[in-house]
Amino acid sequence: MVEPGRLRLRAGMVGGGVGADIGKTHRFGMRLDDRYSLDAGVFGRDAGQAARVASNLGVSPERTYADYEQMAEAESAHPEGIDLAVVATPNDSHFPIAKAFLEQGISVVCEKPLTSDSATAAELVRIAAENDVILAVPHCYSAYAMVRQAGRMVRDGALGRITFVDVEHASGWAATPLELSGHKQASWRTDPDVAGFPSVVADLGTHAYHLARYITGLEAEEISGQLHTLVPGRTVFDNATVSLRLNSGVPGRVWAGMAATGHNHGLRIRIFGDAGSLEWQHEDPHHLSVQDLDGTTTILTHGLSTLSDDAARLTRVGLGHPEGFLEAFANFYRDLADELTARRDRTASTIRELSFPTGIDGLIGVQFVEAVAASHANNGAWTVPASATSQEA
Ligand SMILES: NC(=O)c1ccc[n+]([C@@H]2O[C@H](COP(=O)([O-])OP(=O)(O)OC[C@H]3O[C@@H](n4cnc5c(N)ncnc54)[C@H](O)[C@@H]3O)[C@@H](O)[C@H]2O)c1
Repeated sequence: MVEPGRLRLRAGMVGGGVGADIGKTHRFGMRLDDRYSLDAGVFGRDAGQAARVASNLGVSPERTYADYEQMAEAESAHPEGIDLAVVATPNDSHFPIAKAFLEQGISVVCEKPLTSDSATAAELVRIAAENDVILAVPHCYSAYAMVRQAGRMVRDGALGRITFVDVEHASGWAATPLELSGHKQASWRTDPDVAGFPSVVADLGTHAYHLARYITGLEAEEISGQLHTLVPGRTVFDNATVSLRLNSGVPGRVWAGMAATGHNHGLRIRIFGDAGSLEWQHEDPHHLSVQDLDGTTTILTHGLSTLSDDAARLTRVGLGHPEGFLEAFANFYRDLADELTARRDRTASTIRELSFPTGIDGLIGVQFVEAVAASHANNGAWTVPASATSQEA
């Protein structure tokens, strides 16, 4: 598997079958910079459909597997086996699938939430470290140029002392009981056995919380959570409001919702400091709005020559040319490719201060979900997330 100088990394995928949502976005993201070939996979649970998807993607029948266990074993023994396995299946299967590849010494991109509980998430982090491979989690919003710009500005003190953090990922995609009509993604996201009872926190809250951590560098020391079910009859929580006590006593707020009627994607973050504030919205990703103490607003635009290197290096087609979700996934995969290649070729690490999210971020996300659930069960009591005390996180 180790062939220094080989141009492309070899990737495989579990999930991303017919009608699947995010698997194809991973594939688009991997292709954009031509740093990966897709060589193996289990593209869905239905063998016939999975074989057709594989064939359309140019994956050979010999490397189209019946299940992930067979794939992990065969690929680790294959003379040209995969360098990276992408896990893009529903939440309850992340742990066994990611574990199977990590144990074979194969790096993994595992979708969020990393696993269904923090013990298994911590186990994946440990197995990855023991096998000296990368475990990455695609909190893709951190790979937008203007999010990296925000992270750089906060670190450089442009906002002064951070005073308040407000983030929401409140989408309206499931404001009706879509699950009753057989909607593929709604069906498992409203099944507590697959998505967990605090479903919306695991699904969207982990993205929101990661974004706040990524931009500010702050971690929650205590949280107080309230969970709600806005769509009658739904068997999971579809709305959550969470108060945060971040490092240095900085207060914060997370709102995660999948039943925020009329909202499209609904991801927005605002960071306030004693010298200024900033705002970024996923539906206008090219712009970062920065306010000073007098209320004067400056709009920074993706592609401007004055942006930090953290943002500029993610600008692909230049000022005035739209980029979006697929490019953000590609940015995630490019940073990851740099590091995988460096490890393979035994050259210096390429990890930066603002780089791709890892298994530790995935673990912190799962610990956040658990803390919110525990707080809610205790009438919203202030609760210390395990990330605030554990060694790993
Ligand atoms: N990072 C993001 O922005 C983002 C966005 C959407 C979804 N997600 C995450 O991605 C994951 C998948 O979500 P989705 O909406 O694409 O789900 P989906 O239901 O649309 O697709 C899941 C796919 O996995 C396949 N699958 C399930 N179990 C499998 C197994 N054991 N082996 C092989 N294939 C299997 C299914 O057949 C299907 O093709 C979830 O964990 C979700 O939270 C992340």
